[in-house]
Amino acid sequence: MNAWKLSPGQNGMDLDQHNVSIGEPGEGEVRVRIHAASLNKRDLMILGGQYPVNIEGSIIPLSDGAGEITAVGENVDNLSIGDRVSNLFWRDWIDGPALADHVAMGAEIDGVLADEIILPAHALVKIPNTLSYAEAATLPCAALTAWNALMETGDLKAGQTVLTLGTGGVSLFALQFAKSVGARVIITSSSDEKLARAKELGADILINYVTTPNWAEEVQRLTEGKGADVVIETGGPGTLSQSLEAAGFSSQVTMIGVQAGADQSISPLPLLFKKIRLQGIMVGNRVMFENMLNHMIKHNIRPVVDQIFNFNELPAAIQTMTTSVHFGKIAIVN
Ligand SMILES: NC(=O)c1ccc[n+]([C@@H]2O[C@H](COP(=O)([O-])OP(=O)(O)OC[C@H]3O[C@@H](n4cnc5c(N)ncnc54)[C@H](OP(=O)(O)O)[C@@H]3O)[C@@H](O)[C@H]2O)c1
Repeated sequence: MNAWKLSPGQNGMDLDQHNVSIGEPGEGEVRVRIHAASLNKRDLMILGGQYPVNIEGSIIPLSDGAGEITAVGENVDNLSIGDRVSNLFWRDWIDGPALADHVAMGAEIDGVLADEIILPAHALVKIPNTLSYAEAATLPCAALTAWNALMETGDLKAGQTVLTLGTGGVSLFALQFAKSVGARVIITSSSDEKLARAKELGADILINYVTTPNWAEEVQRLTEGKGADVVIETGGPGTLSQSLEAAGFSSQVTMIGVQAGADQSISPLPLLFKKIRLQGIMVGNRVMFENMLNHMIKHNIRPVVDQIFNFNELPAAIQTMTTSVHFGKIAIVN
């Protein structure tokens, strides 16, 4: 079968296609024919050698996939040949708190960018027929992160205000989940065209963070000084100060991204004076994934897949993601 493989190179990681053999699933395992995968910013960081993981030898990249079960090992009772499934980002994180020794797909262990993969049955979740494979392949990382931030670690209620940064995968899922529970959504973007598309998805307040560089002040102005109840912090060091400024009293700022700007000094005083809860999130577990899927089915939420590439077009897909022209998710079909 064909698989893309990452191995340490001179400038970060090298990416090549290989013909590899795959065996039969062992006890408790299943084999999945991967029909789609999706890209995350993390995949670009791993490729560039900027992700804090030590890859020895080579691994199959990408954490997020969806496909069909083609073989079932012994003692698997919840999955059958032909089932449509998506995988967990953290292969063995089923429930409860995250543990330091959990391993993530496409980094510490092989990912999904291959014709077929073998995984323990517990690392796979059945997906509804209403979602295409490309749509389902966007769920393991971006969707679950947004869901965890708002609905599991967070406790979003109808009528509250969510501020979400940018129009990438995590941010658009946050927009969709927040609207589905009756929250008001403020979204930022560098592009008025993307903001117009976000409005079509239900965003209530649109702020261009390039033409309005003091966007936190604008959030406070437009909320009459109340600020946001939940901030989906997908930026990182370059946006955190303004996110704390935009946050309201007793709010939650969920630290998710590391893409904006370099380290800078960030005052902790808003945390104290506004009693803000600053919470780091690393995706989510299987129980959260199932909760999210049930909610998506109930509210007919469909992932925003902006562009689809073929398996052999991975370099072009990566190039597109690098330029941030996408709105939502980029998928790869096979
Ligand atoms: N902690 C976790 O569990 C977790 C999970 C998933 C992702 N992440 C991280 O979260 C971040 C977003 O991930 P993603 O998958 O949504 O990425 P993505 O789909 O590539 O989205 C990137 C978008 O972020 C926006 N952006 C970039 N710089 C910004 C800034 N300074 N201010 C506001 N928005 C900015 C841009 O939106 P516009 O084009 O609209 O300006 C850009 O298109 C990444 O750093 C990623 O590594 C973390």
